Amino acid sequence: MEHLSRQELEVIHEIPLYRHFVENWAQVESFQARPDDLLISTYPKSGTTWISEIVDMIYNDGDEEKCKRDAIFNRVPFMEMSFPGLLSGTEQLATAPLPRIVKTHLPVQLLPVSFWEQDCKMIYVARNAKDVAVSYYHFYQMAKLHPDPGTLDEFLGKFMAGKVAYGSWYDHVKGWWEKKKAYRILYMFYEDMKKDPKREIEKVLQFLGKDLKEEVVNKILHHTSFQEMKKNPTVNYEMMPTWAMDHTVSPFMRKGISGDWKNYFTVAQNERFDAHYKEQMKGSTFRCQMEI
Ligand code: A3P
Repeated sequence: MEHLSRQELEVIHEIPLYRHFVENWAQVESFQARPDDLLISTYPKSGTTWISEIVDMIYNDGDEEKCKRDAIFNRVPFMEMSFPGLLSGTEQLATAPLPRIVKTHLPVQLLPVSFWEQDCKMIYVARNAKDVAVSYYHFYQMAKLHPDPGTLDEFLGKFMAGKVAYGSWYDHVKGWWEKKKAYRILYMFYEDMKKDPKREIEKVLQFLGKDLKEEVVNKILHHTSFQEMKKNPTVNYEMMPTWAMDHTVSPFMRKGISGDWKNYFTVAQNERFDAHYKEQMKGSTFRCQMEI
């Protein structure tokens, strides 16, 4: 499988993406969503695994043993994922038990139309761009399906230009932000989840129309804390083969904090990033916290 590592990204509908995902694109485009599907959508490194575990815990009424039945990437299939020799995301979803929880990182314009047609409930999680960039940089290093990220400075340039997998963070958060006006989208923030995870879990419960006892909510809260998730092999991605993810380079459950960018950005990088950010987000009502 080593030959699959460090391949250059391809471009699909103007979005850079992994070659094997692009090769399987027809399957993604024609994917048939069901009205009872719940979509979890994020730009990479924004708390996808965290919200996925919260939702699976809710679906299983806070039973952590049930949530340990399988790795998170099997419980919440990654729709557009495709790799030679592995079941693709769409294949996994074809046989997944109902109701399905579907993970995607696609920008709105690439989401299969059936999700809109079926008016599926969707949860979007956004995380501030600077922490995403730092987390993504480490992820590029440890997850070998990415091209070599180069130095942090080089990577920041690519991130700002949208020349990373899934394209522009700016367009991604703005695209989903606009869609929530017309569709059933719960738009959440990683920073809010850090600040008050219980309140955010309660928002998810309300959105899903679920009522759980406080003790169950507390169990979910504990089970989905960073400390618990970091040591849980079903969510920390240690069940992935090492040719795909090398946790000795950087663990998937890396730091799980807000504001880590301050440990990495130079003053000059920060100024450049801020100026570019202002330009990119001009005219949008989207706001997020760069630290908490
Ligand atoms: P860091 O690299 O900043 O630590 P995704 O699941 O979208 O790939 O996002 C991964 C990021 O979410 C990583 O960020 C990871 O540590 C963080 N994360 C995962 N579970 C978390 C949790 N329970 N609490 C806080 N952060 C979490």
